[in-house]
Amino acid sequence: MAKIAPSVLSADFSKLGEEIKKIEEGGADYVHLDVMDGHYVPNITFGPPIIRDIRKITKLPFDVHLMIDKPEKFIREFAEAGSDIITVHAEATTHLHRTIQEIKSLGKKAGVSLNPATPLDVLDYIIEDLDLILIMSVNPGFGGQSFIPAIMDKLRETREIIDKKNPDIILQVDGGIKLDNAKEVLDAGADLLVVGSDIFGHEDIVSRTKKFKEI
Ligand code: DX5
Ligand code: ZN
Repeated sequence: MAKIAPSVLSADFSKLGEEIKKIEEGGADYVHLDVMDGHYVPNITFGPPIIRDIRKITKLPFDVHLMIDKPEKFIREFAEAGSDIITVHAEATTHLHRTIQEIKSLGKKAGVSLNPATPLDVLDYIIEDLDLILIMSVNPGFGGQSFIPAIMDKLRETREIIDKKNPDIILQVDGGIKLDNAKEVLDAGADLLVVGSDIFGHEDIVSRTKKFKEI
């Protein structure tokens, strides 16, 4: 069974609570929360207050994807709002090692995200400290973009590195994942799929979530 983290970026925010309940009913493993600041990416979403509020309505773990500059300034706030995993972009933080240690010192799982053009060698001296690696398969900022085909090779390489250096790491993939390419992404070595528009863009969110779980 595939592990999935539906991204609420494509949800209807006027009924965010209800839609999260639907992915929970469909068997989602995490809620993926895309935080954007209008600087690191050309879009703005939400911050800790929304996370704190939705924390009350679901037991699903919160997988928080920070697409913000200098995430180190806000780690504590996101941790206290109820995040379970906090992922930062390697390019957005000056002292990646320090930021990862801070996430872990707050009792949270720590992830690093790599943009499509970011080479895998940014993982070299940090991989032992990570709980999750997020490989972006679109340029971050928006839902509904197309999967970049070159990322398939990057995924296979990342899988090899993880297996060799720290097999406990969760390999997550985010962007352009649809029902018709999800199996290929899993076969390339992914452990956890982020899916936005292909779940929340459907009328029946519960059954669409179940379909992904059945892969
Ligand atoms: C993009 C976000 C994604 C986005 C994925 O910057 O990180 O999580 O919601 O959406 P889809 O699945 O529509 O590509
Ligand atoms: Zn994301």
